[in-house]
Amino acid sequence: MSITQSPLQSDVASARYAKSVEVSKRIRWDIDRDVIRGRSLDFARRFLPDGLSKVDRLGFLDANDRRALSQIQGRTYANMFGLVERFIAAKVLDVSRDHWLGDQRALEALVRFGDEEIKHQELFRRIERMCAAGMPEGYTFVPDPNAVASAVLTKSTWAVLALTCHIELFVLAHYRESIDADGDVSELWKDVFLYHSREEAQHAIVDELEWARENAKLSPQERDAAVDDLIALVGAVDGILQAQAAADAACFVAMAGARFGEAERDHIAGTLLKAYRWQYIVSGVMEPRFRTVLFELVSPAQRARIEAAMGPLTYAVPAAPTMALPMAA
Ligand SMILES: [Fe+2]
Ligand SMILES: [Fe+2]
Repeated sequence: MSITQSPLQSDVASARYAKSVEVSKRIRWDIDRDVIRGRSLDFARRFLPDGLSKVDRLGFLDANDRRALSQIQGRTYANMFGLVERFIAAKVLDVSRDHWLGDQRALEALVRFGDEEIKHQELFRRIERMCAAGMPEGYTFVPDPNAVASAVLTKSTWAVLALTCHIELFVLAHYRESIDADGDVSELWKDVFLYHSREEAQHAIVDELEWARENAKLSPQERDAAVDDLIALVGAVDGILQAQAAADAACFVAMAGARFGEAERDHIAGTLLKAYRWQYIVSGVMEPRFRTVLFELVSPAQRARIEAAMGPLTYAVPAAPTMALPMAA
């Protein structure tokens, strides 16, 4: 990619920013008026669908156990978005600087993006409070959003935008492929992620534009270092997932009483970690749209480094013939 954009390229980018603003205005929603509408979470139903939670892989759990584990995972799912949106909002405001005195449609797209992420964090805090009120005590969300954001924001903008694009594309994939299709989850929980994904669709477009714009600024050496940063960020995400999966497994076992033996407890903890790696890392890396952008921006050698780093996590891909991870394609 060249350092400077041709007039045609910048016209295309400007039109995409403008389109994201237009759609953002049209679909804008309010937490209480549109999403919550005076409703509560339905604790008689599951939250995170089986397609994401993998609770159906634990054959020794009864229906009540599966529902409880789906609700714990659904609570973590909301908290995880509240967590990542802390650094995403900060990075979006950071990169908006380049547009302050430039393309005002791009600036508006980024301002709306930041504003929406701040609103989403408030929505997920509301969901956490509802979960705390309706579920047994003992749940802990381990990572601190500001500590994570401070660490993430020390990495290169290229890497942070790559991670952000990956997250926002898996949000869309999860809703499209798992959440929308499940008619048996709590209606409010489902609506939260319906409305969330509608605004995330615009964010993904802006991510792609900003990531490509940042990429064009980098020398080959800087891009090489940025790839290292991205690999480090994925490793940090995995560290968070390991800690949260262990906490959520312990929470579930404690809520269930002393009914599970050591082998069952290990199976629960292993299934949770595998499910979280699928939800927050592997499902995004497998997204064709993410792979297209990433592999256009990096060299074959950099692609090979990314694929090697991802290798140990590919066991989290669901065991279906059509879901084979084409890392070396
Ligand atoms: Fe969001
Ligand atoms: Fe977003």
